[in-house]
Amino acid sequence: MTTIENIITLFKNWYEQELKNTQVQIPTAVCLSTVGIDNFPNARFVSLKEIINNEFVITGPLNSRKGLEFKHNNNVALTFWWTATERQVRIQGIASQLSETLAEKYFEERSANSKAVSLICEQGQEVQDLELLEKKVQEVVSENKKIDKPKDWSGLSIKPIRIEFMEFKKTRFHNRKLYELENEQWHMKQIQP
Ligand SMILES: Cc1cc2nc3c(=O)[nH]c(=O)nc-3n(C[C@H](O)[C@H](O)[C@H](O)COP(=O)(O)O)c2cc1C
Repeated sequence: MTTIENIITLFKNWYEQELKNTQVQIPTAVCLSTVGIDNFPNARFVSLKEIINNEFVITGPLNSRKGLEFKHNNNVALTFWWTATERQVRIQGIASQLSETLAEKYFEERSANSKAVSLICEQGQEVQDLELLEKKVQEVVSENKKIDKPKDWSGLSIKPIRIEFMEFKKTRFHNRKLYELENEQWHMKQIQP
């Protein structure tokens, strides 16, 4: 029987193999797609933080465009392309906001620079004076004081409903395994390249 635990184990095996072999600077990068409020799909890279209780965790400010889109429609997708192992993983799922405790934990792990940017910047808002904004960030960094998590800084926990694992083949006869949740039961089918 296929279970989410088996699927996550497969994901972790692939991810670890990639991490061992990759030269990429930010190997945690994953494309997060949301459904835009205007109905256009919207995609951007974020970093995969962790997998907790078989859910994929990403973080960032939720008063940003991605946050507003998530609040409007919590169906999202994550897409990985792992260059060293030549594998693609596609996940569709239902996102929920991280608990305040977990958001605090992830914020605490951020560098002083990242914290200062999160404190000073309104991600996605138009900026009138970029130099002034950067100066404000630098001032906060040089004050060297504890920076508390801004109210809207949080993250998403994504519960998968569909996961496809693809092994890219030079012959283009790619190996594709699709796992789908139907009536609370996971099913796997091999699909054509
Ligand atoms: C490799 C990479 C990793 C990123 N990681 C994050 C992240 O973890 N969280 C985040 O909010 N933005 C991250 N960004 C920035 C996002 O791509 C994006 O610019 C930002 O989240 C604003 O998106 P939005 O306007 O759709 O909300 C990352 C960008 C790149 C290129």
